Formats: sequence, C-alpha cells, structure tokens
Amino acid sequence: MVLCLEDAWFKYDEYVLKGASICVKEGELVILLGPMGSGKSTLLYALTNLIPLERGRVTIDGKEFREEDRRKVGIVFQDPEDQFFNATVFDEIAYSLRALGFDETTVKEKVEAIASELGIERLLNKNPFKLSYGQKKLVALASVMVYEPKYLLADEPTSNLDKFSYKKVMELITKKGALVATHEVEWIPLASKVYVIKDGKVQEIEDVIQALKENRLPVPIPTSWEILFETLGLERALELLRERAYKAIAIKTQTKPPKRPAGGLR
Ligand SMILES: Nc1ncnc2c1ncn2[C@@H]1O[C@H](COP(=O)(O)OP(=O)(O)OP(=O)(O)O)[C@@H](O)[C@H]1O
Ligand SMILES: [Mg+2]
Repeated sequence: MVLCLEDAWFKYDEYVLKGASICVKEGELVILLGPMGSGKSTLLYALTNLIPLERGRVTIDGKEFREEDRRKVGIVFQDPEDQFFNATVFDEIAYSLRALGFDETTVKEKVEAIASELGIERLLNKNPFKLSYGQKKLVALASVMVYEPKYLLADEPTSNLDKFSYKKVMELITKKGALVATHEVEWIPLASKVYVIKDGKVQEIEDVIQALKENRLPVPIPTSWEILFETLGLERALELLRERAYKAIAIKTQTKPPKRPAGGLR
C-alpha cells in the first residue's frame, strides 16, 4: 500500500510546489525536512487532497485518490487549533470514530486507550481550546491516531513538548509509520527515508550526515538512539544502523560525542 503525490504544482500568490513528488508506504516512517516557508505543510495538504492542485495528482496504489479514500489518510495539522471544533477533548478525539459509525462503548474504549498512551487521560473533560500548546498538540495527534488511518501525515508533531511526551510521541509515530514534517533532526535516525523540500521539489537525501553538515544543522543526539533501541530492539536497531551507514557515527559516539559541524548552531 502506497500513497503518492505525483508532479504536484500549487500556488497561493507564488508557486510553493513546482513538480513535487513523494511516496509514503504504509507503516514506513518518512521524514520531510526543509526551511521555514519551504512548503512542508502545503505538501501535506496536497497529499491529503485538501488543496486543489494546478497540475499533478494524488494516488493510492497507483489509483487516483477518491473521496472514499479520505479516511485512509489522516493529517495532524501543525497548528493544533486547526484540528479542533468540539467542546471537550473526549468529543474531539471521539469525533472521527463516531463519524465512522463505531458504537459508543467502542468509542469510549478507543478514546481512553489513546489518551492513556499519550498521558492525557486527565484532559478528557476539558475544553481543547483552553489547554497549553503542548497539551493541544497531544490532543490533536490523539484525534487522528485514534481511528488508525493507513497513512499518517504529522506536521511538526514534537514541537513544544516536554521530554516525556516528546519521547512518547516519537515512539508511537515510529511504531505506526508516518510522513513527518519537522525541523527536528532527532527524527532522522528513526526514518527509513529522509526527504528535503527545496525550490518546490522534493529530493531524497542519501547521505544525511553530509547534508546536515552542509546545512549547518546538528547531527542527531543520543535520545534518538535510545528510542531506536527501545522501539526496534537492540538487534534490529543495530542492523538498521549498519544498513543506513550510521556505523561510523556509532563508533564515534562510543568514545566521544559526534563532532559539531563547523560553525554549527548547537
Ligand atoms: N494561506 C496562505 N496564503 C498565502 N500564502 C501562504 C499561505 N499558506 C502558506 N503560504 C506561503 O506558502 C509558503 C509555504 O508555506 P508552508 O506553510 O507550506 O511552509 P512550511 O515549510 O510548512 O513552513 P514552516 O517550517 O514554518 O512550518 C510560504 O512562503 C508561506 O508564506
Ligand atoms: Mg509548516
């Protein structure tokens, strides 16, 4: 199962997507990097068929995206308030389940299960608009993950979270697979593919470390390694590290931390 955006062209006042193409396989974790304003969010809207493309198309398994495919693709917006329109967190998370016709007992079970996974059980009776920004991010994520769309598109899912929630969200999304638009390089070691959006086009980054250095971004720090080991188990994690050519860095981190890129920001 694969969701693709093919040769997408889109403009607001100016063109943001100029022949952008990207595919996400079900269950795969794919990272989309790019500077502010480069079009990451726009690309996610395009993949969800939320904006009219001037040219190009969205496909699932090679077939044109149809209205009935909408439930297969879940988007978590960058600004959580864009997601909300219910009076309580419970109703917000329950909304899609109810729309999909689940009975109230199942709705309650599923809402409580995802709330517990994300540590937001105590927020269920609150007004979603009156939460802290980090809490809103978690509720927005829960409201999409709860109905288990085949493809999850998450826009900056770990921004403004404390360390506990940050790790939890990374773990959950990594297990599920998703297209994650982010500025946080900690996602990189967890991903099977890393893309960057540049001049309206999407390019795959083969040598991530080199690209980070060239863009004066910090090399991922050990939290990612920790999550990688916890999520996949030591053996698979090590295998993946070898496959992805992180071995050189792994050896370095055993003796000393990775070198900061010259003139690096952090
Ligand atoms: N509703 C809109 N109307 C007009 N221009 C817009 C609109 N939304 C976004 N843009 C412009 O489109 C470009 C791409 O925006 P987009 O939000 O997709 O970037 P981004 O990569 O997600 O940025 P960030 O990293 O800040 O989230 C920007 O130049 C932005 O100003
Ligand atoms: Mg954005």
